[in-house]
Formats: sequence, structure tokens, C-alpha cells
Amino acid sequence: MRDVKRVAILISGRGSNMRALVEQSDGYEVALVASNKPDAAGLEWAQARGLQTWALESKGLSKEKFDRQMSAAIEAHDAGTIALAGFMRILSPWFVAQWRGRIVNIHPSLLPKYRGLDTHARAIAAGDAVSGCSVHVVTEELDAGELLGQAEVPIEPGDTTATLEQRVLAAEHALYPKVLSEFVRR
Ligand code: GRF
Repeated sequence: MRDVKRVAILISGRGSNMRALVEQSDGYEVALVASNKPDAAGLEWAQARGLQTWALESKGLSKEKFDRQMSAAIEAHDAGTIALAGFMRILSPWFVAQWRGRIVNIHPSLLPKYRGLDTHARAIAAGDAVSGCSVHVVTEELDAGELLGQAEVPIEPGDTTATLEQRVLAAEHALYPKVLSEFVRR
């Protein structure tokens, strides 16, 4: 039975946002950490913490075939909310419809600025004084659903994409657990 306070976190890589969501969980429980990359570093960390994990290599599978299997795994763990945390794969319209209004994502820019990839390089190239991160509801349109929360971060003179990424990541780790906690209560 889907329970909105049971969260499935989807990752593809190191999973630093997933770790922040686990360590600062408040009002929700992490039911599953799932990945489309069986070697994602974050999976090992989650297993070591005693969390349930699921992984399936997505390469070579059709989008919907992968998404149907992932959806079944999420259901099997009674999760009712899905948090994307560096999940580097666009979800199929089928999956988004199946979980409509119950999927959230963190994006490293102040949306609606810089949807998609390379946000830090684009913010620096534009000469912006401020960047940040946004948590939003996932819809069929990339990085475009309802905004749930944002945090601003200054861009310092001499910032590179690496230094800006670090500063924004620290803001992501503070923002995401807070917003997810509010989202599961509403
Ligand atoms: C973060 O910058 C997040 O905003 C973006 O992908 C990156 C994931 O990093 N969606 P991590 O795997 O959480 O460390």
C-alpha cells in the first residue's frame, strides 16, 4: 500500500543528496534507494546503513520497460513519494502519470533559469551574481513542475564550475530534506 511518508530515492551516482535526505529525515522514512546504475557509489553507502536498495542497468532497456520494473520495486516497498537525487535519466510519460504529483526533484539552479544540464557553467558564463538550487514537482516537461522551495547562493569572483558546484551542493543538502519533509505532510 502506497504511503506518502515512505520515500523512494532515485540516484545514478555518488548520491550526496540521498545521504542528506537519509541523515536529516524528518516526518518521512526512506523505504528504498533505487538506481539505474548498479555501480552507483551511493548504493553501497545505503546498504551499509541497512537501507533497502534496488538497481537495474538501464542501458539497453527501453525507457518504459525500465520504468515499469522500477515502479514495481517502489510499490513493493510501499513507498508513496519519490525523490530524484541525481537521477540522470528522463522518466517516461507512463511513469510520470503513474506517480503524478508524487515525484520531486532537486535541480542546481534557480528555476526557471537554466533547465537541463551544465547549470553552473551557464550561470558563470552569463555573469550572474547569484545562483542556487530548486526543489520542484516532476512533470512531463523537464525541470518545469511546481516549485516547492529554493535556496540562493552567491557567485564569487573567480568561481569555477567546481567551486560553485560545491557551494550549491551544500545549499542542496540543507534545502532538500526540509522541503521533502514539508511535501510529505501536505
Ligand atoms: C546535484 O547537483 C543535483 O542538483 C542534480 O544532480 C546532482 C546530484 O548530486 N540533480 P548527488 O548525486 O546528489 O551528489
